[in-house]
Amino acid sequence: MPDKFDVIAVEDRFSPPFFKKIPVVVERGEGVWVWDEHGRRYLDFTAGWGVTCLGHASPVISRALLEQGSKIIQNPSSGLTYSPARARLLSLLSTILPATLTRVFFASSGAEANDAVIKLARKVTGRLNIIASQKGFHGRTISTASATGQAKHRERFNPLMPNYVFVPYNDITALEQAMSSEIAAVLLEPIQGEGGVNLPDPGYLQQVSKLCVAHGACLIIDEVQTGFCRTGSMFAIDGLNLAVDFMTMAKGIAGGFPFAAFATSERVAARLEPGDHGGTYSGNPLGCAVAHAVISHLKDKAIHLNVINVGEALLTRLSAMQARHSDIITVVRGKGLLIAVEFATPALAAAVFTGALDRGLFLNLIQERLIRIFPALNITLTEAEEGLDILAEVLDSLGTLNS
Ligand SMILES: Cc1ncc(COP(=O)(O)O)c(C=O)c1O
Repeated sequence: MPDKFDVIAVEDRFSPPFFKKIPVVVERGEGVWVWDEHGRRYLDFTAGWGVTCLGHASPVISRALLEQGSKIIQNPSSGLTYSPARARLLSLLSTILPATLTRVFFASSGAEANDAVIKLARKVTGRLNIIASQKGFHGRTISTASATGQAKHRERFNPLMPNYVFVPYNDITALEQAMSSEIAAVLLEPIQGEGGVNLPDPGYLQQVSKLCVAHGACLIIDEVQTGFCRTGSMFAIDGLNLAVDFMTMAKGIAGGFPFAAFATSERVAARLEPGDHGGTYSGNPLGCAVAHAVISHLKDKAIHLNVINVGEALLTRLSAMQARHSDIITVVRGKGLLIAVEFATPALAAAVFTGALDRGLFLNLIQERLIRIFPALNITLTEAEEGLDILAEVLDSLGTLNS
């Protein structure tokens, strides 16, 4: 037996090989910082993949976990019985959701929420076909992988579910051509996250909404990544006046506790009935209490203002870095604290990722040439600048190597 418990060896030995792991053993976190087993500190620009919106070990979350955990975690007969924690969350959500989305059901992950609404859109329309977007991402279950327009998530599992059609994102003509009276739903992210932080042109989502209404298809908006202030408003579709039939949420909704939801309208809910959907953990009081605490905090502290301020500062400085290193960085884009930096080659992106990690900064390499920056939403300007100082140092070192 080795003297010390070897975390890396144990995980590698007993886990399936799905992840190309980063060899850091994270012991604890606080805010945007985490510490490894040797006490080394890192700045987290990934927020656990856009999840820990209030930072690591947030007292807001610990308090809610402790308070609700000491009352009740899972109700007798689960969702068949009522829960004050669930009712409080429903009531809070009714104050922040787009006005027509008045009915909410809870789940445990983004894929699960998307899976449910794909099923329910089929039921309420009596149709089978779903239009989704190229480069879109909706999860890794069989139906959500089928709805995901990226070959790397699909091709190893073919044939996936039939009845999915893909159109280029932000191309209204392509969508118009794909539309018919056989389309149950159009499923889109308001900004594509995993696909590369792709923002639609102004007016695109409204045109999509009109097309859905005209053809009697449901509009499903996937706010799993963009929701809960990530892009500077509570939801990315706020103010767009879309006729949304289903909206899915996860990630930031409970700041790291596995929780998710979908919201739907009265019109759609009128066509749903007992038995259409359910789930053992749906509306689990512990998750509801944490989500309530997180969303209240986001709302009461107006965290979206910090997202806008720090997000703009990050984008401005990243654009300056791009101008200085135009041979390394080809594009910088994003909204709020959801930002992508595209590199000239996969080797450069990999070198930046590794160089940053060596200097104590966690970045997220999502595509071959793309790094995503999406830290906790309450990151301070000073902390964000500290991360960019590291990035600047890495770029300078690469620039020197290149010259
Ligand atoms: C837009 C979007 N939808 C769905 C999902 C899947 O969510 P989960 O990983 O919680 O199943 C993700 C995850 O990254 C996402 O970004």
